[in-house]
Amino acid sequence: MEKFLLLVLFLLINAMGPLMASGNKLTVGDQHGWNPNVNYTEWEKKHKPFYVGDWLVFYYQAGQADVIRVDEVGYNKCDASNPISNYSKGRSYAFELNETKDYYFICSYGYCYGGMKLHVKAQKLPPPPSSSPSKSSKSGAFSAVGSRLNGLIGGLVGSVILWVV
Ligand SMILES: *[C@@H]1O[C@H](CO)[C@@H](O)[C@H](O)[C@H]1NC(C)=O
Ligand SMILES: *[C@@H]1O[C@H](CO)[C@@H](O)[C@H](O)[C@H]1NC(C)=O
Ligand SMILES: *[C@@H]1O[C@H](CO)[C@@H](O)[C@H](O)[C@H]1NC(C)=O
Repeated sequence: MEKFLLLVLFLLINAMGPLMASGNKLTVGDQHGWNPNVNYTEWEKKHKPFYVGDWLVFYYQAGQADVIRVDEVGYNKCDASNPISNYSKGRSYAFELNETKDYYFICSYGYCYGGMKLHVKAQKLPPPPSSSPSKSSKSGAFSAVGSRLNGLIGGLVGSVILWVV
């Protein structure tokens, strides 16, 4: 009996895993990283929506770039003289989007050195049980498998609970 309860717990936790995930880690620029001559507007389009709790991870060449968080004016003008935050150590920087708002980052080397500027809007995470399109729905086949799997797990949990009761 105890084993079955453990199994139920295990399956429940597995089924809830995706809902409880504490945010995605997104590599800014994907394989290109935070470097000149990458169109970060396109990167943003490809990866949105962004949610509160997501992390942006910037990878750059040590000493060749920095990550300056600025306001919208600073972003539009490529002006790093009023930074909200300034990061330039090492070769990577992880930043959590912890509030629902617009975030702007630029590289202060040169005039946004080769287009190194990024604007993302962090949205509130949609409430878990709703059927609103989730992040994974962007890759259709994958989410189809995912929801089928969830259905399967849900069914399993349901039948095990019924069996136990
Ligand atoms: C980046 O891509 C956006 C949207 O696809 C486009 O409007 C913009 O002109 C591009 N920027 C550069 C510097 O190529
Ligand atoms: C960022 O901080 C470093 C070290 O504190 C400083 O040398 C640099 O000028 C700052 N850059 C900007 C754009 O504020
Ligand atoms: C988000 O992070 C910033 C910088 O670490 C902090 O000042 C701010 O209070 C945080 N906001 C929330 C809602 O946690």
